[in-house]
Amino acid sequence: APHQVEPEVCFCGRSNVGKSSLINCLTNRKQLARVSSTPGRTQLINFFNIQDRVVFADLPGYGWAKVPKQMKAAWGKTVQEYLHDRPQLSVAILLVDIRREPRDEERNLLAWFAEQGRQCLIVATKSDKLPSSKVTAQLRGIAKSLGVRPSSVLAFSALNKAGRENVWSAILGATAPADGERD
Ligand code: GTP
Ligand code: MG
Repeated sequence: APHQVEPEVCFCGRSNVGKSSLINCLTNRKQLARVSSTPGRTQLINFFNIQDRVVFADLPGYGWAKVPKQMKAAWGKTVQEYLHDRPQLSVAILLVDIRREPRDEERNLLAWFAEQGRQCLIVATKSDKLPSSKVTAQLRGIAKSLGVRPSSVLAFSALNKAGRENVWSAILGATAPADGERD
């Protein structure tokens, strides 16, 4: 149908956490989303239409240490405006570095999504940086720190593609039309 809007998935998280790398890995494209060693490179929201099935929104990263306050305010404004009127947004994916303890920014974002009744999924990135024996415990710690069920935290590595299928399954599950909504 001409006015059909694809379900959308947004990727958010601290700058450098691996949002663009996750999008590239999920889509099997090396350069779809721009990956950079300069934190804060993605400052606008980039939208990627994935085969007319789903749209990925790559949100700008937050948490740069050395940027002016203005820029931090700009991040909030961009993201707030985006979320304000977004009925097609099926799930928000919050990325956290698997090696780090989540901070208030992450908890605040989750609380904000919950307030809006948004479905949320956590992806713990860069799992290749941890010995595999430590991954499960680290995921539990992240879940606990964020106050979510351990099953909603998925480990992922853009380097070796570990967790790619799990993340795709979760995305497809979250964006599948409910029974009766199919045309
Ligand atoms: P901004 O756009 O600045 O917010 O960053 P981003 O969250 O999009 O991160 P990006 O995907 O650009 O990755 C940042 C850096 O981390 C790059 O040097 C990536 O190569 C690296 N990186 C991303 N994911 C992984 C991963 O799973 N494992 C490892 N080892 N490095 C990763
Ligand atoms: Mg990026």
